[in-house]
Amino acid sequence: MPRRSRTSVAALAAVLALLAPGCTGIASGVRGTPGAAGLRDPYFPKLGNGGYDVGHYGLTLAYDPASGRLDGTAEITARATQDLSAFNLDLAGLTVRGATVDGAPAAYNRAGNELTLRPREELPAGTEFRATVTYSGVPEPITDADGSEEGWLRTPDGAVAVGEPTGSMSWFPGNHHPSDKASYDLVLTLPARVEGLSNGVRTARRTEPDGRVTTVWHTAEPMASYLATVAIGRYETGTATALGAVPVLTAVERPAAAGSAALRKEIPVILARQVKRFGPYPFSAAGAVVTGNESLDYALETQTRPLFPAGSFDRTTFVHEQAHQWFGDSVTPKSWRDIWLNEGFATYAEWLYGEEYEHVPARTRFERAFAQDANWAFPPAAPPAAENLFDPPVYQRGAMVLHKLRETVGDRVFDEILRGWPAKYRHANAGTDDFTAYAESVAGRDLDALWDVWLYGDGKPGKP
Ligand code: TRP
Ligand code: ZN
Repeated sequence: MPRRSRTSVAALAAVLALLAPGCTGIASGVRGTPGAAGLRDPYFPKLGNGGYDVGHYGLTLAYDPASGRLDGTAEITARATQDLSAFNLDLAGLTVRGATVDGAPAAYNRAGNELTLRPREELPAGTEFRATVTYSGVPEPITDADGSEEGWLRTPDGAVAVGEPTGSMSWFPGNHHPSDKASYDLVLTLPARVEGLSNGVRTARRTEPDGRVTTVWHTAEPMASYLATVAIGRYETGTATALGAVPVLTAVERPAAAGSAALRKEIPVILARQVKRFGPYPFSAAGAVVTGNESLDYALETQTRPLFPAGSFDRTTFVHEQAHQWFGDSVTPKSWRDIWLNEGFATYAEWLYGEEYEHVPARTRFERAFAQDANWAFPPAAPPAAENLFDPPVYQRGAMVLHKLRETVGDRVFDEILRGWPAKYRHANAGTDDFTAYAESVAGRDLDALWDVWLYGDGKPGKP
């Protein structure tokens, strides 16, 4: 107990609060301030939150496909990175029913996609704390700047959750910027007539007294929240083993089952081939989810279990999403400006696969891409706006940068970069500067001329 009387402390605190709003907590000796409402991402300035670092998400979800209602509890274990009087989580839509911090009820407030929690006691920098948020409602998809829909998407029999770049806030509260990666446990309770899947390893399955079925999913390796997924529907599942020890779980919605059988069988072969080029597989599980859902119109590299609309479960797309497990999922962009590090590498992985196993030289793919005007709209390292993050220059010109790098440093050094990059930043975050510096360190020389033209330059260079 402080020696001063309660009233004088309260009076002093009130005066200080007037002088310096946000500075309270005199009684505990901490002068905390609220964590920032965003991490100033160049494209989504409010995405993510400052003042803490999440270590683990424990998500307990129950979903009713008939009504579309989701009941959730998010238990977030985090560490304060400043003296915190309050902190934000990103959450879009839904209704918050209650919140606690370290077991004590916390005051909460909502404004736009920001959910603010104010713990009873301030959190000194360095302390680990546990926040829980109980919520429910019918999740609403988020419409991107480019018009595509993401988040919790309802399907005829269930739902599928896709989070890139900002969709995950539509189904759980969190620090939804790719720079804050965490491990996950997800507990999913569903009517018995549908199957549910998520990332990582399924550690339990049980039938509840009311007949619903609960499955439990564990993701041990750090995961950016945009890579978290849930798929609910009439799935047919299959298991296999890859790389001697990695469990492969595939799930295909019934209408797509027959057509996908051959590629499902090929998954361990493709993984082994990619390990040869990119180094050790970074995760303890693998697989694929193929939806029959018309409303999903792109594949996504959800961690350990990429997601495909039935129409795009083909070898090239699988190679692309599987390559993302190294480039994007294990080595994750520092900000959305670095998206070419995901898409350029995954596209170049297609070119490499084509060269090695399908007799199409990467140089041919490069020349084809070079000839297309759409690929020259902007430099891959500087998409002009959020709506351009997934435009052709990010994919095709991103891959062209890597091909030019290969031609400049030679195959042997390029191979070393291809393996060394995901090793150096395994389970971490990296930006464009990290990549150029790393490539130069392996090459043993300055590559500014290459970056200036191919990575940062406006317009098409004179010759390929
Ligand atoms: N990253 C996905 C891929 O593998 C594509 C993607 C994700 C996407 N989210 C998107 C494309 C939103 C357009 C809009 O290529
Ligand atoms: Zn991709």
